[in-house]
Amino acid sequence: MARQDILHLLASLPGEYVSGEKISQQLNVTRASVWKQIKLLKEEGFEIEAHTNRGYRLIKTPLSLNEWVIRQMLDTCALGHAIILEDELTSTNIKAKELAREGGIHGEVILAKRQRAGRGRMQRGWESPEGGLWMSVILRPNLSLADASKVTLAASVAIVDALAELYQLRVGIKWPNDLIYNGQKLAGILGEVVGEWNSVQTLILGIGLNANFTRERLGLALKPITLQDILGYEVDLNKLTATILRHLENQVIALEKNLFKELCLNWTARAVGLGSEVKVLRGEQIFHGVFKGISQDGELLLNTEQGTMCFSAGEVQLRAASGQYF
Ligand code: BTN
Repeated sequence: MARQDILHLLASLPGEYVSGEKISQQLNVTRASVWKQIKLLKEEGFEIEAHTNRGYRLIKTPLSLNEWVIRQMLDTCALGHAIILEDELTSTNIKAKELAREGGIHGEVILAKRQRAGRGRMQRGWESPEGGLWMSVILRPNLSLADASKVTLAASVAIVDALAELYQLRVGIKWPNDLIYNGQKLAGILGEVVGEWNSVQTLILGIGLNANFTRERLGLALKPITLQDILGYEVDLNKLTATILRHLENQVIALEKNLFKELCLNWTARAVGLGSEVKVLRGEQIFHGVFKGISQDGELLLNTEQGTMCFSAGEVQLRAASGQYF
């Protein structure tokens, strides 16, 4: 008997008790094994009330990542229809690339509760303790290589919108796709192309969002921020995953329909540092100028003393009120 069968039965009668006898009859198992499975479900974080005469009642699903719960909450056409959830992976992006090479489908999602060696942009590491949302999505969109970076811009808009919908948070985007709250990094995106983009058109979209842990858990000198720091409580990572996937799917569909102009407007409306003095780091080089926005190709536009410069890669540092760059 799958534990999920019991869940389906309990969830089909929300708020109601289902007797142990009914469960054992419907699933053709002993009442002792029903009890054992309920115990395991409780260990997974499901809150299930057991009443001697009435039976069992599902009170709450876990906040931690759970495949069954994500599936109940998903309302996408393709994203998340295949899900892999592991307690620990080296990096969900590495796993996603392996799966993509083996034929992983568009929308397949790889999640890990922890990453041993999470990867960030610019060859950096990404600390990934338990409680975060560490997710990679295999995308095979109907787009060209030139549009690959637009998908990561679209993903940053999707995450901002999901956070606004769920927690009414106003999160900004620092070019190209760092998500910033009050000047501190809350989430990042690592987009990687698999194989030859023009022939296989596969993109791995890695999303790292600091969620259910506090920033003290992180060893970084420049401390990022977490949802728990901001909200003061732990969020439902399953709802968060499903909501991000819905927004992401809509953004990718819009891009496929050639609606980059709209994405550009949406991205710009959420950008931080627009019109202010910034530093752009590209390799060893540093450029100073005023951040003017993004071009129709998703490049950063910087007004410098030498004229307007376009950047397709690199990192932006904004100037805080203190005069320090972050
Ligand atoms: C950044 O440097 O801002 C990008 C960080 C991206 C981290 C995520 S966590 C899930 C996925 N797997 C990884 O190894 N990295 C990305």
